[in-house]
Amino acid sequence: MAKQYILPPISLAERKDYSFRVRAWNETYAHATGKSRKCFVLTFGCQQNEADSEKIAGMAEEMGYEITATPEEADLIMVNTCAIREHAEKKALSIIGQYKHIRAKNPDLIIGVCGCMTAQDHRREELKMKYPYVTFTLGTASLHHFPKVLWDVIEQKRRFITTESEEDFTKTVAECAPIRRESGYRAWVSIMYGCNNFCSYCIVPYCRGRERSRAKEDIIREVRELVEAGYREITLLGQNVNSYGKGSDCDFADLVAELDTIEGDWWLSFMTSHPKDASRKLIDVMAAGKHIARRFHLPLQSGNDRVLKAMNRHYDMAKYLDTVTYMREKMPDVVITSDIIVGFPGETEEEFGDTLKALETVRFDMLYSFIYSPRKGTPAAEMEQVPDVVKGNRFDRLMATQNAIAAEKNLPMEGKTVRVLCDGESKGNPEVYSGRTEGGKIVFFPGIPDMTGKFISVRIDRTEAFALWGETAE
Ligand code: 5AD
Ligand code: SF4
Repeated sequence: MAKQYILPPISLAERKDYSFRVRAWNETYAHATGKSRKCFVLTFGCQQNEADSEKIAGMAEEMGYEITATPEEADLIMVNTCAIREHAEKKALSIIGQYKHIRAKNPDLIIGVCGCMTAQDHRREELKMKYPYVTFTLGTASLHHFPKVLWDVIEQKRRFITTESEEDFTKTVAECAPIRRESGYRAWVSIMYGCNNFCSYCIVPYCRGRERSRAKEDIIREVRELVEAGYREITLLGQNVNSYGKGSDCDFADLVAELDTIEGDWWLSFMTSHPKDASRKLIDVMAAGKHIARRFHLPLQSGNDRVLKAMNRHYDMAKYLDTVTYMREKMPDVVITSDIIVGFPGETEEEFGDTLKALETVRFDMLYSFIYSPRKGTPAAEMEQVPDVVKGNRFDRLMATQNAIAAEKNLPMEGKTVRVLCDGESKGNPEVYSGRTEGGKIVFFPGIPDMTGKFISVRIDRTEAFALWGETAE
């Protein structure tokens, strides 16, 4: 393995200083040519990555770049990658491969790759050896080094394939960077970073390091400012939000309860919860809440206790069902969604049957289903694998079961009027607008531009498994 460059610690003042140096370099160029240098940010993966990309774009803007939606006109391309499944990595590598042509036309183009993929030694090595036009890499915990690494690239005219230091993995990077928010009414707020759970299939703890929580005061200030600025939905993000504040005097339920006191017309949601830590205290806070969306994403992963144990999940079906029952007792209208992995190593037909049964028992409103993908370095990748055809077949059956349940669950909404946060024109048809309910369900209705970013009442007249349709109502 080639030598890797471990980033030395950097203070906030140093970060700013490097940011201003790049800015000065960009301003000189703009004066000379009459045009600004442009930065294109491409994001793969989860909401945490979307939130990180808003910081990357924020820092790029601070450094004097104009953000562009067109990679062909960019002077700086940042690819924020995901490593959760092989498919995500392949897709990112394929797009990075296509940037070779843009670089051939513009030899000054700088290409940075960050996110979970670059946290893995073998992927950094691959980027270094097989993608010579990738100028630098940056790990998930070292986003705040972006201006310094970029400056080094510019000044020294060389590549930097970097590795984060142990120290970076103990920090929360949120406070270190300006944020360029994609939306003016929905906002992500990271409350913690990393994961300590080491589910046997999952790469995240290796890419994002150990759990660390942001200070409560910083989160409350950020959320308050967003509500005051007119944001309508604020989603708290963390790999396992339920372990927020461990060891401090403020746990996740306390944090949510405190945020709920912020006045205004807004929804507070959060993701992701781990079933082993989803507490009754949190459910009680939600049930009593004024702003807390009655929506719970509670990844089950499998409906079989042996598989759950092999996944290192630390709960069984009985515990999971107990939480769901309590939740529905306290909030009969709660929308419960989940993640399921099919074809985990060693999963038998009978064990998969237990997952299908679990879907019938719990009756999730929505399900995100995944075919198990072996991740290098995780324990499950070393276990006896289920053949691809079997995995594919189970996936199809899982989807069919869930689709029927979701359709049945949505049917009673016909004739009801729901509150929807409008997202503007739907993809494909500018006359049809889309929005989401408090539970996160997508709704289509005829709309006008003024509705975007506002709460709208919609009377539902048709439902399917994945969407609701209606007319705006008073
Ligand atoms: N293969 C398939 N799905 C995975 N997930 C995490 N790791 C893997 C993997 N190796 C799924 C889990 C998790 C969601 C974000 O991604 O269901 O909850
Ligand atoms: Fe991965 Fe499990 Fe951590 Fe979620 S809780 S990020 S599935 S290790």
